[in-house]
Amino acid sequence: MTHMEIYKQPLYYEIAFSFIDPKEQADSFGEIIKRFSKAKVKRFLDIACGPSLQLREIAKRGYEAVGLDLNPEMLAYLRKRAKEEGLKIETIQADMYNFRLKEKADFAFIMMGSLDATSNEKFLSHLASVAASLNKGGLYFIQNVTLDWTMEAKSTWTMTRNGITVKTTFESRFKDVLSQTYAEKLTLEVSDNGEKKRFVHEEDLKFIFPREFKLLVEANGEFEFLGWWKGNCNTWHFDQPLEKVKNLSDNMVLLRRK
Ligand SMILES: C[S@@+](CC[C@H](N)C(=O)[O-])C[C@H]1O[C@@H](n2cnc3c(N)ncnc32)[C@H](O)[C@@H]1O
Repeated sequence: MTHMEIYKQPLYYEIAFSFIDPKEQADSFGEIIKRFSKAKVKRFLDIACGPSLQLREIAKRGYEAVGLDLNPEMLAYLRKRAKEEGLKIETIQADMYNFRLKEKADFAFIMMGSLDATSNEKFLSHLASVAASLNKGGLYFIQNVTLDWTMEAKSTWTMTRNGITVKTTFESRFKDVLSQTYAEKLTLEVSDNGEKKRFVHEEDLKFIFPREFKLLVEANGEFEFLGWWKGNCNTWHFDQPLEKVKNLSDNMVLLRRK
């Protein structure tokens, strides 16, 4: 079951998730590159970019910025914001499970648990697409891939900007052992200068067990697995590999193109 209507509401989506700090994230990318990249980085690719506060910050810092998303509404919004801010951001409308870039990137990233393949075949096809779009020695940074199949989650938060209030509810519920599926539901309850609206995104997704994740990276064969660590939205902890922490839901994974 899929309802993508939230992803057709870029402004409300951006307000809902505006608790992230793109400056801190871009600083962290810089540190990660210094420490792990074997490629000189001038071109960044944000996969499933949405309104991409990150690319706007990266473009501001003088790098080439490319945003890839399936939804034209998200990309149109990103282009509009880039234009308003005087920034150059390229956009590509494509399926992250099957794409090729004309000009390869040196650093690719995917944020906010957006890597949510519904099958191992799709996951492999995604890795092949990223590998074909990334220069050798370049990094692929993955934030919050779902590794914890024991989790049942529900959280709610409210953000406000310019007379628009967005109350977001995120729910995740285990579904089936054999197919390793779980149901995810995201609800935005919006009050836009008094006008009330409600948007829902519901999808059945597949857990990737941690060992399975590593095996799939091996099966793809084009990346080195550099590690996985605790990392919430803005702060990433290289002193805390996942083997040492209890909560796997705030994680980041780092791959390097061979
Ligand atoms: C959870 S949002 C993340 C947006 C943004 N990167 C962030 O961190 O806030 C997921 C994004 O993925 C896009 N998306 C969903 N399925 C996709 C697919 N198969 N290929 C590319 N983008 C996809 C949606 O349009 C949406 O913008």
